[in-house]
Amino acid sequence: SYEGDEITRAPVVTVMGHVDHGKTSLLDFIRRTKVATGEAGGITQHIGAYHVEDQHGGVTFLDTPGHAAFTAMRARGAQATDVVILVVAADDGVMPQTVEAIEHSKAAGVPMVVAVNKVDKEGADFDRIRNELSQHGVISEEWGGDTQFVHVSAKTGDGIDALLEAVLLVSEVLELKAVPDAPAKGVVVESQLDKGRGPVATVLVQNGTLKRGDIVLAGLHYGRVRALVNETGTRVEEVGPAMPVEIQGLDGTPEAGDEFIVVADEKKAREVANFRQGK
Ligand code: GTP
Ligand code: NA
Ligand code: MG
Repeated sequence: SYEGDEITRAPVVTVMGHVDHGKTSLLDFIRRTKVATGEAGGITQHIGAYHVEDQHGGVTFLDTPGHAAFTAMRARGAQATDVVILVVAADDGVMPQTVEAIEHSKAAGVPMVVAVNKVDKEGADFDRIRNELSQHGVISEEWGGDTQFVHVSAKTGDGIDALLEAVLLVSEVLELKAVPDAPAKGVVVESQLDKGRGPVATVLVQNGTLKRGDIVLAGLHYGRVRALVNETGTRVEEVGPAMPVEIQGLDGTPEAGDEFIVVADEKKAREVANFRQGK
């Protein structure tokens, strides 16, 4: 099938770290301040995938772990993530899931930016955090390593612009590209069975453009895309590369981390889905 020209695409950034170190709070702050005014109120809270735009460019964020998504994506080679933000609470330091996150990132070869969060709180020991992280091979630029450390507070917003700049700096080096004018493919971030709407899947388009009416094959499931809803709750006709979107029309709920592709023929899609289900 015809494929058009490559364009630069937004980075997909996964936020990882130990429980309660402030991953979701950081994303909440970023969305409140960076998502266009008027849209913020309509944001669907349960979707853990967000795209924000500011003067520096666009970034798509995936929150963890609320999702089972990240583990599954990792298991499949972490094709979805370009950069990891490792969140470490300044008053708690490096904890078991911090270390686990470092191991996932390294295994996937994904570059990391460290966000030392909760700097507004008493008891922050930055040297201790730098020291503990260095023992796991994450060495700050100040200490001669290649990892940017940014001090942030999800409460006050301190350092969050610097964090976005650090992420974009790392992303630029990666020269991320995609072809918008092609059949869409990507990964499933999460899915659930909605009482009214039936199976609903949040997917991340990695290449191509996903359109209403497309036939999608996703893991064990398939279907014609009946509706696309972006993270602000707005129905859209299509979404391009590096964008998350909620889709309706699948015949079931694919697993987080499943790949999806758009196929030309509904009968073929059904056959493949049935084959995968062992029917
Ligand atoms: P899990 O998803 O459960 O792993 O947690 P999380 O990393 O998403 O942390 P979350 O955003 O839920 O924040 C945990 C707690 O820390 C909440 O009570 C937040 O209000 C608080 N918190 C997060 N960031 C900051 C910060 O920068 N300063 C202060 N003072 N509190 C913060
Ligand atoms: Na939490
Ligand atoms: Mg969270």
